Amino acid sequence: MNIRIFDTTLRDGEQSPGVSLSPEKKLNIAKKLDQLGVDAIETGFPVISDGEKEGVKLIVGEGLKAELCGLARTNKKDIDAAVDCGLNYIHTFIATSDIHLEHKLKMTRDEALEKAIEAVEYGKSRGLQVEFSAEDATRTDREFLKKVFGAVANAGADRIDIPDTVGYSTPQYIGEITKDAIEVSKLPISVHCHNDFGLAVANAISGVQAGASCAHVTINGIGERAGNASLEEFVMALHSLEFENKWETNINTKLIYETSRYISKLAGMSVQPNKAIVGENAFGHESGIHTHGVLNNPLTYEPISPEIVGRTRWLQVGKHAGIHGMNAMLKEYGIEPNEDQTKQILDKVKALGDQGKQVTEVELLSMANEVIGENKLKRIVQLAGFSVSTGVGTMPYAFVKLNVDGQEFSATDYGVGPVDAALNAIQKITSQVTDEVRLKEYKLDSISGGANALCEVTVKVEDARGNIISSKSVGEDIVTTSVQAMVDGINRIMLKTLLKEKKI
Ligand code: KIV
Ligand code: ZN
Repeated sequence: MNIRIFDTTLRDGEQSPGVSLSPEKKLNIAKKLDQLGVDAIETGFPVISDGEKEGVKLIVGEGLKAELCGLARTNKKDIDAAVDCGLNYIHTFIATSDIHLEHKLKMTRDEALEKAIEAVEYGKSRGLQVEFSAEDATRTDREFLKKVFGAVANAGADRIDIPDTVGYSTPQYIGEITKDAIEVSKLPISVHCHNDFGLAVANAISGVQAGASCAHVTINGIGERAGNASLEEFVMALHSLEFENKWETNINTKLIYETSRYISKLAGMSVQPNKAIVGENAFGHESGIHTHGVLNNPLTYEPISPEIVGRTRWLQVGKHAGIHGMNAMLKEYGIEPNEDQTKQILDKVKALGDQGKQVTEVELLSMANEVIGENKLKRIVQLAGFSVSTGVGTMPYAFVKLNVDGQEFSATDYGVGPVDAALNAIQKITSQVTDEVRLKEYKLDSISGGANALCEVTVKVEDARGNIISSKSVGEDIVTTSVQAMVDGINRIMLKTLLKEKKI
């Protein structure tokens, strides 16, 4: 059975504290969601501002495949605002729990019921598809909830949504009220689950098991407070886990990671490293036992292949490291130590790990170089020259020249400072020669005191496949050292990709 994915990243997701999207950003996100294959997009809450209306109108004008919906309270002004934006589908809601009725709406149950019926009738009279939500449904008196759902169905609603507004439901309870809703309304049911107790995805799945045909979700699970059920977790659980029924969605799962990164960047909300499916560590392995298992057969420690969601696995060494994992990592850079050299490198890795230090790729490569005695790392990208200009009253500016596999490329760019300008110019060049490589993290440390102190720059760069590598450079000049670290990082990530694809 196909489960409908209603994405509310642009509405509930945008209600995350600190997130505010311009109309253009909203349009770009809507296009990404459409490519991903969501069935419906909640474009926004049109009545709240002129900018919101503009964003919704831009999306409506784009001719996307997904159904487009707008949020409206149960009043004519909100519904008219959605119609004015060109929408033909509304998601209208009113709270039905006593706590909301008494302390927020100052209404009786009957008054709220009346408003719900009126809004559905008005929406239908304006030719709209109407989805009705009983806000705080899971804390609403169960008999009253049934009465509301039955009444809005009689009033002509096309769909009913069950919001678990404060993430208060258990999987069992949302299953029960989903069955109630189906019984009294005979309409398609959606579930809209918040994550206050970390149960959003489990609750959404339980709703589906009880007969709901749609879930409201957001990319990266962003949304009010602890967020909403995350699209990537919900979809991948439906596709991958064993249930009595077989569920499918229209999501192109290979685009999940790319979409997650895109939304994280535009919304300015980073994803926690241990987040399922899209977190940095979701397909990373450190301990010797795990890396050994994964190298023999990835299914030993991965429930799904990272490629399914557009990612690649990565290995890291530390005090738990084993020979297999460490050598597999070195091989990614074309380094193949003999048995004795392997032992020496591993001893160094463990000694550093025992001091409580993380052994990054940078350290591993430099340890390997120390042991093997020569720099084995092939150079694809080399710095051919650069200059920067900065000062008061002028925008910092950089010119960079790189040699990529024997061919010279140059670019100029601006930035908030000379380092930023130079790194932007480098990324401009690399975008011409390879898939997007972006700077993920930048760290500057001063090694000794004084104005002529040595500085140490560590960068983490990431490519479109989710390969992340770090690189470090030490020098006297901050800009030169930063440029060197970035170029080294890009060299490593390209080398890794080319070796993996057996292109060198
Ligand atoms: O969580 C919620 O109750 C909502 C409503 C607007 C449906 O987002
Ligand atoms: Zn919500």
